[in-house]
Amino acid sequence: MNDSVLTLQRVDASYGPAQALFGIDLDLAQGETIALLGRNGAGKTTTLRAVMNLMVRRTGRIDVFGSPAKGPADAIARRGVGWVPDDRRIFPTLTVRENLRLAQRAGRSKDRAPVSFDEVLEILPIMKRLIDRRGSALSGGEQQAVAIARAIMARPRLLLLDEPTEGLAPVIVDELEQAVADLPGRFGMSILLAEQNLRFVQRTARRVIVLETGRLVYSGTVEEFAANDDVRERYLAIGAA
Ligand SMILES: Nc1ncnc2c1ncn2[C@@H]1O[C@H](COP(=O)(O)OP(=O)(O)OP(=O)(O)O)[C@@H](O)[C@H]1O
Ligand SMILES: [Mg+2]
Repeated sequence: MNDSVLTLQRVDASYGPAQALFGIDLDLAQGETIALLGRNGAGKTTTLRAVMNLMVRRTGRIDVFGSPAKGPADAIARRGVGWVPDDRRIFPTLTVRENLRLAQRAGRSKDRAPVSFDEVLEILPIMKRLIDRRGSALSGGEQQAVAIARAIMARPRLLLLDEPTEGLAPVIVDELEQAVADLPGRFGMSILLAEQNLRFVQRTARRVIVLETGRLVYSGTVEEFAANDDVRERYLAIGAA
């Protein structure tokens, strides 16, 4: 046994007849954050869905915490996998506090105490002024913060984050950056982060993997990637840096 939290070996994934991932390999260690980069349609979201066994048919091998990630998504979630999808959906008629409470209950597990409200407010200070507002009264960035807070509540050991900064104002990106950077140290979480914002990746991840049309085309440290103008220009959206 090694301390691998997530491994993918030769993973293919398809939507009906359309294949979206081709032979993806990945190995995420305990406490590590890996960023999954690539242009729109490269397969970032599909990789996260493959881990959750959601919406895609997949082949190859996916292990979480050393054993196969099989069965429905909720069974995989109960093993300690948190997922923040790209649509950030929170309940609009409930307050933020109610949204978080629901998540705390839903993610309840015998072997992991939920994260407390106080801990969440500490790691995401923006939540302090949102806590009694309704979901429908939040900006996109505020909703994203709540979506992350909600996933944290269940104290996942592995967190899958799908483009948390997309469309957000810089001030809120800064706060999310700080929170995501702190999660491994504070809660021992490991993170697979789909993202196109290179600055955010540089401040939160140590290694990057780049996808292009469903194939892994680059893997290296964040520093190597950032210094490689050629790879960066080829595989990231214009202006992402
Ligand atoms: N629900 C779906 N049904 C059919 N094809 C899909 C579906 N979702 C994604 N795809 C296709 O799978 C491929 C990978 O898409 P995916 O959403 O994983 O990319 P992405 O890297 O997350 O892109 P983005 O940055 O736009 O979120 C694309 O060709 C896309 O059109
Ligand atoms: Mg996506």
